[in-house]
Parts: sequence; C-alpha cells; structure tokens
Amino acid sequence: MSIKAVIFDLDGVLTDTAEYHFQAWSALAHKLGVPFDRQDNEQLKGVDRMGSLQFILDKGGLQLPSDEKDMLAKAKNTHYQQLIENISDADLFEGVHPLFNRLKQAGIAIGLASASKNAAMVLNKLGISAAFDYVADAAAIRQGKPHPEIFLTVAKALGIPAQHCVGVEDSLAGLQSILDAGMYAVGIGEKQLLTDANLVYAQIGQLDLDEVLMLGRKAPTTG
Ligand code: BG6
Ligand code: MG
Repeated sequence: MSIKAVIFDLDGVLTDTAEYHFQAWSALAHKLGVPFDRQDNEQLKGVDRMGSLQFILDKGGLQLPSDEKDMLAKAKNTHYQQLIENISDADLFEGVHPLFNRLKQAGIAIGLASASKNAAMVLNKLGISAAFDYVADAAAIRQGKPHPEIFLTVAKALGIPAQHCVGVEDSLAGLQSILDAGMYAVGIGEKQLLTDANLVYAQIGQLDLDEVLMLGRKAPTTG
C-alpha cells in the first residue's frame, strides 16, 4: 500500500499550542478547586472542548447544569485565545516547511485533522493555511477523537482510502482515532507514552519521511 496522504493533527504536532490548552484548562480547574496536572492533561490531548471540560468536572465530582458548562467552556476558550493571540510563523515547529515541501514534491496530499475549533485561525497565524489540501471543520465532526470520524472525513475529502494514509498525532486519543480509521499512526512525543503508534519521533522535525513511507509496505494494524 503506497502512502498517498499524510494527515496531521495541529496542537502539539505542528506548533506548541498544546501547552496553551494545558495552561487554560489548568487555570479553569484551579478555579473550580479540581486538582489537574500534566498527567491528567495527557488524557485531554486531542479531546474536544466539552469533553475536556467534562473530564475536569468528573475528576472533581462536580455536576453542573449545561448553561454553566457552556459558560465555563467559553471562559476557557477566551483565555486560550488570549494565550495564542501573538503566535506567528515563528511558532511553527522546526522542520514543518521542509516536510511539507517533500510531501508536495512526492505528490502526497496533506490534510489536517484537528479537534480544535480554533484550528483555521491558528493555521493562519502560522502562515501555513495554503499548504493543506483539506482541513477538517471540527464543528462538523459529530464524534470526537478517539472515534475515527475526523481522520476518515479528511481521507474521504482527499479521495484517498484510509489504508493509503498516515496520521500524525501527539495524543493518545488521536492515535486511537488514526488506528481505528485503519491508517498508519505516527506519534510525536514520548515513546513510552505513545506505545500504540507504528513509529514515534520526539518532535516533528525528527520525522524521517523515508521511514514513514516504508510503513506503506505492510498492512496497517487496526487498533
Ligand atoms: C485539540 C487539543 O487539538 O483541540 C485539545 O489537543 C483541545 O486540547 C481541542 O481541547 C479542542 O480545541 P478548541 O480550540 O476547539 O477548544
Ligand atoms: Mg494534538
């Protein structure tokens, strides 16, 4: 199966916005009196806004009416948007441009499968919107990661069957989503944590495209 598309996550893969999501959720959890650390945050990476809020509420044993939940989610997002206000092309991780150039030269499609409703804005700030052949609209995804819907939606829009796609993720939920979509999974982060990935690199700049494309020589394992 040759690789015909690479579908990227955004936060924590192409730029360090995962850290800003963490800071905004931490502040909210603190206000609610719920203990929240980086280990908790690993469970939240890739999880959509309301799902993340629910995780924190559940951890604190808090039950709130939906209008209060909406207010809290809105407050977190306002804080997050303040934190990312000044990001620019300088915040794109090293190695992304050369990687995209190589993918384009090889005729491999580039997709984005981010759970973030802020993704289009972040891509704009990073100056990479035009690099993508398709960007998923997180607001139109019914079942968030770890469900495979978002990766399958991007593959379908690109017109490329899942078994010819590679997904690139920093989150446990995202890797599950990729594997359940029947794609090859590349993890960005710690090997000990991202154990289900077919390949793991500490940072996107270390991704070895030749090694990734070699994955296409064996059948993807469904997670
Ligand atoms: C994912 C992040 O990309 O997007 C999560 O990993 C975040 O941390 C999720 O909660 C939703 O983002 P947003 O911007 O729609 O609140
Ligand atoms: Mg991520």
